[in-house]
Amino acid sequence: MKIIIVKDPIDGGKQGLKRFQKAKANGAKVFGLATGSTPITTYKEICKSDLDFSDDVSINLDEYVGLSADNPQSYHYYMQEHLFSYKPFKHSYIPDGTNLNTENEIKRYNQIIADNPIDLQLLGLGRNGHIGFNEPGTPFDSKTNRIKLTQSTIDANARFFDNENEVPKEAYSMGIGLIMKAKHILLEAYGKQKAQAVKAMVEGPITTDVPASVLQNHPDVTIILDKLAASLLEKK
Ligand code: F6R
Repeated sequence: MKIIIVKDPIDGGKQGLKRFQKAKANGAKVFGLATGSTPITTYKEICKSDLDFSDDVSINLDEYVGLSADNPQSYHYYMQEHLFSYKPFKHSYIPDGTNLNTENEIKRYNQIIADNPIDLQLLGLGRNGHIGFNEPGTPFDSKTNRIKLTQSTIDANARFFDNENEVPKEAYSMGIGLIMKAKHILLEAYGKQKAQAVKAMVEGPITTDVPASVLQNHPDVTIILDKLAASLLEKK
């Protein structure tokens, strides 16, 4: 794991852009993307840059079950707002939260990922150590799955909704086994509330109790942290 400690998320965004530029220069064509508050500064830097994804494919990690693309809380909407309206891709794939036929949606998304091996996967980190929406206990070899969000994730995401009752309780997520197949992984985490999960991910045992700890097994992971997120690490 290569760890880069930055001053703040704005600096982190600049480092994030550099990873995307490097991947593009090395011929990357398929980008795995994340939502949430963490990647916003990286997307801002990408939008200001001259990177062109019009010949590339994006595959998002997850989407809430039940939310349609025109719902402002959906991850479809988020991606449009923060990246795609400025930097369109040739094809952009996101799980379809309105497809309530779970088996069919899982099969569709697994096929998309099988057809488009991911070159660079961007990740955030849940306070409970989740990656994508793979909550603690998810098997490391999981493919796309429909997940019941834990109370900790619902609480953390309530800030994006008018009240906690509006936070969807389930999501479709790319599984851990598929995330691990990406050629290069870039994880960003900022703020004190991520420090414990960062420590467990980097210095703890590899265990399904901390899904992100599996990244210790990946040969090419870069982690961008601000000082607060890195504050509990023993080896700096
Ligand atoms: C989002 C995702 C989640 C988030 C994580 C952190 O697509 O897959 O794993 O990255 O919940 O969320 P933020 O960045 O809002 O703290």
